[in-house]
Amino acid sequence: MIAEMTTLLSVRGAVKQFAGVRALDSVDLDVIAGEVHCLLGQNGAGKSTLIKVLAGAHEPDSGELLLDGRPVRIPDPRAALDLGIVTIYQELDVVPGLRVYENVFLGHELARAGWEQRRRMRAATTDALVRLGHPEIAPDAELGDLSPAGQQVVCMARALLREARLVVMDEPSAALASHEVANLFRVIGELTAAGIAVIYITHRLAEIRQIGDRVTVLKDGRTVSHGLDINATSDETLVRLMTGRDVANTFPPRRVVAENAPELLRVERLNRAGSFADVSFSIRAGEIVGLAGLVGSGRSEILGSIYGAIHPDSGEVTLDGQPLRPGDPAMAVRRGLGLAPEERKSQALLLDQAVYRNLSLASLERFATAGVMNRRREMTEAVAKIQSLGVRPTEPRQSIRQLSGGNQQKVVVGRWLVRECRVLLLDEPTRGVDVGARADLYALIRQLADTGVGILLVSSEIPEVLGLADRVLIVRQGRVIAECAADETDEEQVLSLLMKGSAL
Ligand SMILES: Nc1ncnc2c1ncn2[C@@H]1O[C@H](COP(=O)(O)OP(=O)(O)OP(=O)(O)O)[C@@H](O)[C@H]1O
Ligand SMILES: [Mg+2]
Repeated sequence: MIAEMTTLLSVRGAVKQFAGVRALDSVDLDVIAGEVHCLLGQNGAGKSTLIKVLAGAHEPDSGELLLDGRPVRIPDPRAALDLGIVTIYQELDVVPGLRVYENVFLGHELARAGWEQRRRMRAATTDALVRLGHPEIAPDAELGDLSPAGQQVVCMARALLREARLVVMDEPSAALASHEVANLFRVIGELTAAGIAVIYITHRLAEIRQIGDRVTVLKDGRTVSHGLDINATSDETLVRLMTGRDVANTFPPRRVVAENAPELLRVERLNRAGSFADVSFSIRAGEIVGLAGLVGSGRSEILGSIYGAIHPDSGEVTLDGQPLRPGDPAMAVRRGLGLAPEERKSQALLLDQAVYRNLSLASLERFATAGVMNRRREMTEAVAKIQSLGVRPTEPRQSIRQLSGGNQQKVVVGRWLVRECRVLLLDEPTRGVDVGARADLYALIRQLADTGVGILLVSSEIPEVLGLADRVLIVRQGRVIAECAADETDEEQVLSLLMKGSAL
């Protein structure tokens, strides 16, 4: 349907070399006005680097950019905006301490804006937020008080008001619950109907089918397939193009948890006003328990309270029959509890440290003898985990900041595999992880359970919870409202339980 339309933007032979890595090694891309062009590729394939080139954050070493058929240079972010290219990054570039409308107009001459100008900015922000289906977000609210989904909506408002011709979105759905994704798709539909092109990056093939027109696949910094018609391309083909192999789309087989398997973790009537109430459940050795719920339903707070990072108002958590002191994560970790949190940048990673140190961070005492670090052992263990998780690049001394989003995520989970916990709490462990690596991660998590570790899994992707967990707890508005064996329910049933009573 778009075959006859005009090419808006072309990338020809783009190359970008970082120290030691050729992130882009001759990339071609053609984007047509009004289409949703999906960009697909494994973690580290070069997707984010490519869109940073379009956003003026990186200048390519060589290659050509054409807009409306004419060569252009995009030396800085200002130039990208002037050309009508607006980017919504994988890690949102918002300022939590500023107000919503200030974030929308970030980069404009905000500091010198007078009262009347600010009034117009507020009004324009309100209009954009209403158009995006979020009238409840106040232009004067402090951005840091919004949920991740709300913050993303603010970024979209920015795109709307910039009179974009091309909106680039790097994994916009990764932090969203399913009903928020539906809203995002509605907004994308609005943009394309107005002739705006969208470049959409995701690791979820189902989304590509839902909103994509064409797809370009990157592998190791090269375009391996160029502007494929999505309707004429199977998932298997896409996965093979991305990974160069066939990936089994199945979850690792479950083992029946023995009747007499010891109970490792028990949570009893845990309460925290405003977050969750009366949460009770237990996990036995070798069991994977999933928490299914919408974003904001209190799942992460429950995890945080078990771990000790958040202080509950009342209730008790016991590990191996012994109570854990509330609000004492150091004790929890000593006793064998681990938590891989969802916000990798702010909660988990030491960005300026090497990959190996980020992996060993929770286990330093394992590698120390009489207070002296055994660097060789630390390194050996790190190399093994880099291998089993498929972290790329494989150099353990590389700074973690330079890894792609999905590869950083593997390290966050890997840290607790190094630690050898009794009970592991995983919050959105596959966020941003590509399909091939996901299958590997699922297998690792199941292997861990098979060695007797108890696992509590939070994921916004219901099929993931149902596929990986043995037992599923349904959490709505901070309460566990149902519990079932994962193989005795399905996505539809879970969704209807989750949505019941909500306004959507
Ligand atoms: N500033 C940098 N310095 C060094 N290497 C970098 C830098 N930024 C990216 N890289 C490397 O470039 C390659 C491509 O990374 P990029 O972030 O573009 O991948 P991606 O396709 O977006 O992956 P993901 O799906 O994990 O987000 C990776 O090997 C990454 O480690
Ligand atoms: Mg990326």
